[in-house]
Amino acid sequence: MAVKRGGSKRSNNEKKMMTKKASTHGTVRHGRGLGRVRRRVPVRLGERSYEIQLGQDWLETVGRKIAADLGTERIALVTVPPVARRYASTLTRGLQSKGAKVSRIVVPDGDASKNLGQLARLYDQFLKLGMDRQSAVVTLGGGVVGDLGGFAAATFLRGIPFVQVPTTVLAMVDASIGGKTGVNLPQGKNLVGAFHQPRGVYIDIGTLKSLPRRQRAAGAAELIKAAAIWDEKLFEFLEANIERFLDLDPKVVFAALDRGCAIKAEVVERDEREGGLRRLLNFGHTLAHAVEAHAGYRGILHGEAVSMGMVFAAERSEAMGFAPDGTRDRLCSLLERAELPIHAPDRPRRAYLSAISVDKKKEGGKIHFVVSKGIGSAGTTLIEARKLIPTGWRA
Ligand SMILES: NC(=O)c1ccc[n+]([C@@H]2O[C@H](COP(=O)([O-])OP(=O)(O)OC[C@H]3O[C@@H](n4cnc5c(N)ncnc54)[C@H](O)[C@@H]3O)[C@@H](O)[C@H]2O)c1
Ligand SMILES: [Zn+2]
Repeated sequence: MAVKRGGSKRSNNEKKMMTKKASTHGTVRHGRGLGRVRRRVPVRLGERSYEIQLGQDWLETVGRKIAADLGTERIALVTVPPVARRYASTLTRGLQSKGAKVSRIVVPDGDASKNLGQLARLYDQFLKLGMDRQSAVVTLGGGVVGDLGGFAAATFLRGIPFVQVPTTVLAMVDASIGGKTGVNLPQGKNLVGAFHQPRGVYIDIGTLKSLPRRQRAAGAAELIKAAAIWDEKLFEFLEANIERFLDLDPKVVFAALDRGCAIKAEVVERDEREGGLRRLLNFGHTLAHAVEAHAGYRGILHGEAVSMGMVFAAERSEAMGFAPDGTRDRLCSLLERAELPIHAPDRPRRAYLSAISVDKKKEGGKIHFVVSKGIGSAGTTLIEARKLIPTGWRA
């Protein structure tokens, strides 16, 4: 079994992250008062490079920064109702500061909106607004809006600029970074898409106050995943602070998101188009996708399915000899404190097998399964689904 190491080439500086000194490492710029950038994380991709900027209660400033950076006359602001009614006006005020015409396009809430119909509606609106290749898209919301609006930007007139303003934990540390955009088909999730890097990612942690706690926890699952595959220090930080994170203690949220974003950025920098390393981000996702598919993508949040999937992956990693004993238990205890479910629904083994076998990460009858190599390190192994789920396995 071939296993690729992850997380071994980090600089010492990065490894020190989360120690008291290192929590003010290179990405930090202190700002006094509200409306300032508190943290910056670079995403270095040559001419497609951009920055993730984090602040608090600074949406209007964010709008002004985006307007100045884009320098465009026309901006389509793509968002969803729960986010639009709280935050769109403030962001729009900033976006208009350089005289740009800003049009708000509100798509219905929920993953079901990430479809070809809504995509066609966006193109239609873009044309009605007279958008051209100098126009830009700004997405304000969770991963759904980011993926849909980003894909519209990737494809309209063969690609126009876009900027992400994520408002869920999941979108802040995962979906908004790395340029993966796309929509679902009736046959499956994320089957049509494009790589299209945003021009920038602007995070306002103040928006998390209105995000339901269950959604915060689901986002925390991806953060725990990032720590589990890449950074034991971040994992320890979350072990010490997970309750404060869910309660939105700003210090803890900034530190955790800063590092979470930096991990995603680093993985994307080394493997922009998912040739290998980026696969590590799928830790826990093999089983998660099966769980989500069985549930018909209803009633269970993605992060909750990932939580169950990580427990499964850690357990199998221990059994296959990749991870030391105790890895699963350590992961479980953090996930439980993060108010996440750890047991996959009790279904027959064959149900999981068939769902896993249709997963798109399949290659020649085998699947690329991400294994834990202990907290903070991961690799992949090519394995047959039936070997991955042994007879008699119980969730
Ligand atoms: N492109 C990528 O690399 C990538 C990575 C991971 C996930 N994704 C995609 O992201 C999507 C999931 O993203 P998500 O979890 O952010 O879901 P989401 O976008 O549906 O948001 C979750 C819910 O929270 C609401 N919401 C968002 N921000 C809010 C706020 N600040 N206050 C109150 N309510 C708020 C939304 O309206 C929605 O009801 C999936 O479609 C998944 O495929 C993409
Ligand atoms: Zn995920």
